[in-house]
Amino acid sequence: MRPLIGTSWKMHFTATQAGAYLAALRPLVAEIADRDLFVLPPFAAIFVARDRLAGSNVAWGAQDVHPEDWGAHTGDVSAPMLADLDCRYVEVGHSERRRDHGETPDLIAAKVGAVLRWGMTPILCVGEAHHRGPVAALADVLPDLERCLAGVSADALHRIVIAYEPVWAIGEHAPAAAPTEIRAVPVGIHAWLRGHAPGGETVRVIYGGSVDETVAPLVLGQPGVDGLFVGRRALDPAAFATIARVPILPAAAPLETTIS
Ligand code: PGA
Repeated sequence: MRPLIGTSWKMHFTATQAGAYLAALRPLVAEIADRDLFVLPPFAAIFVARDRLAGSNVAWGAQDVHPEDWGAHTGDVSAPMLADLDCRYVEVGHSERRRDHGETPDLIAAKVGAVLRWGMTPILCVGEAHHRGPVAALADVLPDLERCLAGVSADALHRIVIAYEPVWAIGEHAPAAAPTEIRAVPVGIHAWLRGHAPGGETVRVIYGGSVDETVAPLVLGQPGVDGLFVGRRALDPAAFATIARVPILPAAAPLETTIS
């Protein structure tokens, strides 16, 4: 599968800063032809991404969406508004939204439905809260996946991207997961998707959680990992460009291998 490598800026960058970032990024990744790339700015900077990235090899999108298309929902942003900004991807269910806004699997499922209804690709985030090994992780992740995908028909499943993001590995004070440690969960997600619907095997499962230039080649080389979802490290456009083009090291490579 073609690797999918992207970043959510979370709540970083004004529209003005976004313009400077994207002006720096675009030439740095212009020659990358064998991977799909994306950036997810905050809502207030998506129009800047559309202006700066149109015609480039970097797609753009949003970090959240309201499940309904229109109406009296002060402060919210709907899928048709994002589609009108030519968003290709919409992230749903990130652990920070579940934590800060009490998002439930039912709400996340409704958001996935809205994104699909408007022709965009949901990036559905799932991941276990605690570091207790792959069996416990899959016991948390698969039921959540099932609920968050409850409204998705077998025909539409292939239009989704799953982001596996162990909550314990996200953010500044989190320990990065060892690449070999995370492989069982994407493999288990793929198996679940294959069993869930014909075409499930074409769904890309990407990995997020303290990804940087050092771990990226090793994580990308793990079986079942079809891409990377980068947070903090991609706030530097040069670092994101480096991660976007990292070689894929085979899973058997020793963990101390570094890239030059
Ligand atoms: P991080 O964020 O790379 O800063 O850990 C990852 C994420 O939340 O997707």
